[in-house]
Amino acid sequence: MPITIRRATVNDIICMQNANLHNLPENYMLKYYMYHILSWPEASFVAINTDCSNEISNIEDKDEESLEIEDVENSKMVKLDPTYVGPGEKLVGYVLTKMNDDPDQQNEPPNGHITSLSVMRTYRRMGIAEKLMRQALFALREVYKAEYVSLHVRESNRAALHLYKDTLEFEVLSVEKSYYQDGEDAYSMKKVLDLDELHPKNFAHRGKDKENVLEDDLESDLLEDILKEGIESIVV
Ligand SMILES: CC(C)(COP(=O)(O)OP(=O)(O)OC[C@H]1O[C@@H](n2cnc3c(N)ncnc32)[C@H](O)[C@@H]1OP(=O)(O)O)[C@@H](O)C(=O)NCCC(=O)NCCS
Repeated sequence: MPITIRRATVNDIICMQNANLHNLPENYMLKYYMYHILSWPEASFVAINTDCSNEISNIEDKDEESLEIEDVENSKMVKLDPTYVGPGEKLVGYVLTKMNDDPDQQNEPPNGHITSLSVMRTYRRMGIAEKLMRQALFALREVYKAEYVSLHVRESNRAALHLYKDTLEFEVLSVEKSYYQDGEDAYSMKKVLDLDELHPKNFAHRGKDKENVLEDDLESDLLEDILKEGIESIVV
């Protein structure tokens, strides 16, 4: 299962919104995705499964009832499905980020914000969210000079808390009471961004055994995860 992690573009936003609607109760209008990607085009990332070609049917198999469009060049019918970013390519995760542009906080040093992150259910526990986050944190620091990044997470969200707190080493700043519409509290979290730590060649293996980590651990990490979890190749 080849997974590619690449920068998000405006062509991805329908699929990003679709993934968001599947995975989270905090949803946004398309123009909000557009605002992120047009304002900070290098800061948001998507994970794509590039091997979904078996899900494209031949033109002869066309079912009148199904939602398909014709890929004229390849004489095939392509499923009209918001999980597909292109023929045979499914969006399986995204991270949407921005720089803090709140006019009331102009005196703060440049800082970024993680607006939304999710991975489709059948692709979880493969390291995809960690890789999306590390790419985004690096870009926010390197391209937009963010000195730190902040986010909110539900108190009950064990998976995300583990990812942010233990894997990515965010610190908990405070508990914001009834932050979410349903009344749940949020942890407000922050991570100071250090370019050296974030550089892909210095990725430590998920925050563990840092002293024993080889200097360039990114590729071996990816391969380890891929072999362990069944992904055959992953491109960052
Ligand atoms: C949270 C979420 C993005 C994690 O995605 P993922 O691709 O499965 O995460 P990863 O595989 O990169 O895992 C990162 C770490 O979190 C841990 N983790 C992932 N899911 C977990 C779970 N359900 N329970 C406990 N730990 C979990 C992994 O074991 C890994 O830890 P490690 O570094 O110690 O090995 C995913 O579960 C999701 O999309 N959830 C719904 C949307 C959501 O909650 N978004 C975050 C909103 S703030």
